[in-house]
Amino acid sequence: MNARFGPGPAVRGTLEPPPDKSISHRAALLGAMSAAPVRVTNYLASADTHSSLDAVRALGARVEERGGALVIDGPGLRGAADGAAIDVGNAGTLLRLLPGWLAGQDGGRWTLDGDASIRRRPVDRVATPLAQMGAQLDARDGRFTPLTVTGARLHGIEYVLPVASAQIKSCLLLAGLLADGATTIVEPEPSRDHTERLLARAGAGIVRDGDRVTVTSQDELELEAIHVPGDPSSAAFHVAAAVLVPGSRLVVEGMAGNWTRVGFFRILERMGAVLIGDLEDRATAARDAEPLCELDVAHGPLAGTRVTADEVPLAIDELPLVALLGCFADGETVVEGAQELRVKESDRIATVVEGLRGLGADIEATDDGFVVRGTGGLRGGTIQAHGDHRLAMLGAVAGLASREGVEVVGMEAAAVSYPGFAADLAALTS
Ligand code: S3P
Repeated sequence: MNARFGPGPAVRGTLEPPPDKSISHRAALLGAMSAAPVRVTNYLASADTHSSLDAVRALGARVEERGGALVIDGPGLRGAADGAAIDVGNAGTLLRLLPGWLAGQDGGRWTLDGDASIRRRPVDRVATPLAQMGAQLDARDGRFTPLTVTGARLHGIEYVLPVASAQIKSCLLLAGLLADGATTIVEPEPSRDHTERLLARAGAGIVRDGDRVTVTSQDELELEAIHVPGDPSSAAFHVAAAVLVPGSRLVVEGMAGNWTRVGFFRILERMGAVLIGDLEDRATAARDAEPLCELDVAHGPLAGTRVTADEVPLAIDELPLVALLGCFADGETVVEGAQELRVKESDRIATVVEGLRGLGADIEATDDGFVVRGTGGLRGGTIQAHGDHRLAMLGAVAGLASREGVEVVGMEAAAVSYPGFAADLAALTS
């Protein structure tokens, strides 16, 4: 499906972003792993998070809609139903987290597979440490789906993450719940910590000490109700549009303020954007809750900036938007240390550079990011989504801010994380 956006008008009004995708995936899995039914409010209705519900159903969970909430009544920590072929669709988070739970189901065997994009995304990053813990994992060419997981009695390990990835960390934390002894994960840089916060709430023995997080074997998990806050990665598109289009003023309500998720807004502030909000501060961060925050954003001029490796995991999914903002900023915008972008839903270094260049941007790819020279604007044209939801929404924002408008080829990809994206944008620009 093709869709045309812009140029203009201004973005004005209040946005309640859709529920957070990362937290929704975790709510489905941890809900199913819990001993008693878990009530989840504001679960994201999207292609990706439906895949997680289908997966936990295949593993023996009952999922029912009751009184505007989802009630997940799962098989519990050690009771996953054996033998299912699990289709993760386009969901990389499900693909990486689920093997952690399955690896600890002694004697069970499952095969995970997904769409064409999933088949290009590496799973050795979770298969290698899970095998060290005692499970058997067989991946195509040792690296890709289909991935077969044969569960075993696991033992804890200490594992230094080769890349700062919340997905690998979360996978090993889930496996650690089922492993004898302690499992310690050492992070090169902090990454999103939703799994840690949920596990702390579920009564798991989980301890953070600097860059190390340790979990110990659990008999069961007990989770009270989970409320999923609004997704900062989805809100980021409308926020970027508000910053770029003259006359804009946007209020965002009910968004997750977790400091490990709001790196993009910190980068925006540094670029000079007018943005007021109660984002969580790292020094006073909660250990087990997900804070909500409000943001007030207005249009204004931007200056180029340098995004360094330590900031990358905190803004990983928003880095395509940093490239777009760089086109409008004064001077050069550089993103470095972001080689992980090459293994997202598309190779986001290649697709962002090719896409924005086609709209008139002065942008170059590097091995680990991109360099953008601001030219004060963007001409417009046509951009391919390459089946990548964030690229489709990037094209829409680029269109609003451009001189001639942008045609997005493959706009339907947005439904992976944000089915209501175009409708929300239309409401804010009408
Ligand atoms: C996610 C972690 C990130 C992110 C992805 C969601 C998660 O991936 O890009 O969209 O929910 O844990 P990595 O952990 O691979 O960086």
